[in-house]
Amino acid sequence: MQEKPMKGIVLAGGSGTRLHPLTLATSKQLLPVYDKPMIYYPLSTLMLAGIQDIMIISTPQDIPQFKRLLGDGSDWGVNFEYCVQPKPEGLTQAFVLGKDWLDGAPCALVLGDNLIFADHLSVLLQQAAQRQSGATVFAYQVRDPERYGVVSFDEEGKAQQIIEKPIDPPSNWAVTGLYFYDSKVTEYAKEVKLSPRGEYEITDLNKMYLDNQELRVERLGRGCAWLDAGMPDSLMQAGTFVQTIQSRQGMLVGSPEEVAFRRGFIDADQLRVLAKRVHKTELGRMLFELANDVHHKDSKQL
Ligand code: G1P
Repeated sequence: MQEKPMKGIVLAGGSGTRLHPLTLATSKQLLPVYDKPMIYYPLSTLMLAGIQDIMIISTPQDIPQFKRLLGDGSDWGVNFEYCVQPKPEGLTQAFVLGKDWLDGAPCALVLGDNLIFADHLSVLLQQAAQRQSGATVFAYQVRDPERYGVVSFDEEGKAQQIIEKPIDPPSNWAVTGLYFYDSKVTEYAKEVKLSPRGEYEITDLNKMYLDNQELRVERLGRGCAWLDAGMPDSLMQAGTFVQTIQSRQGMLVGSPEEVAFRRGFIDADQLRVLAKRVHKTELGRMLFELANDVHHKDSKQL
């Protein structure tokens, strides 16, 4: 049977307690990362993978703001679906909440505060999205692995074990907040039990794939940036990173408008309409240039 096209979920819930008081009156994923709302970055990641059906999961009070910002997705040539998460109980819950909407399709999940930037990222993402069976996750070396899901590798470089927030990490390879799963994901997710910290852990879901020899771990090497913008320092670092690349290279980071255009979800006229809406900004200028191919950049290059 022909697989259905992959869908995507952005998890944009939670109370953002590590950013209080910034998040007392608004969602963390709506805070600015330099010149764009935070959620633009993970949305760009899914769209870069070629995904056009996207569900945004958030709290009952924040969903109206996301709808106001993003609408139904038609401006970017995609479809947005909104889903309320009454109570945050772990990342795996996304697949329980999204089960009917997924309707047996394979699915990528991205955390709403994750920013990934890398050369050839679009190739890696598209490969992961097209893989017919199993799961793909990404690992990134960090100084403080105990804050994350950690994966260790055997001598041949095969993933050996994966542990959530280990006190004594077996490696410094953290699992990033971007996951690609085949159509079995909703079945597997149902089996995940509450962890001691009271969450349906994504690491337990990944372990099920690992135990079935169906987990592929792509290591992101030097030259890649994986940032989560969940604390004051990391929020600032993410903003500075985007500013540095954009102003130095004149290339956009995390622009769903750009990705939509380059992926062929929208044409140059539609991009001009989007650029006009933000015409007083540098972002608007860069989008106009892209639509008019001012620098004759290879339109396929991302
Ligand atoms: C979650 C996952 C963890 C992963 C991290 C990535 O952690 O549980 O495995 O490494 O996201 O950001 P949490 O956000 O719950 O601390």
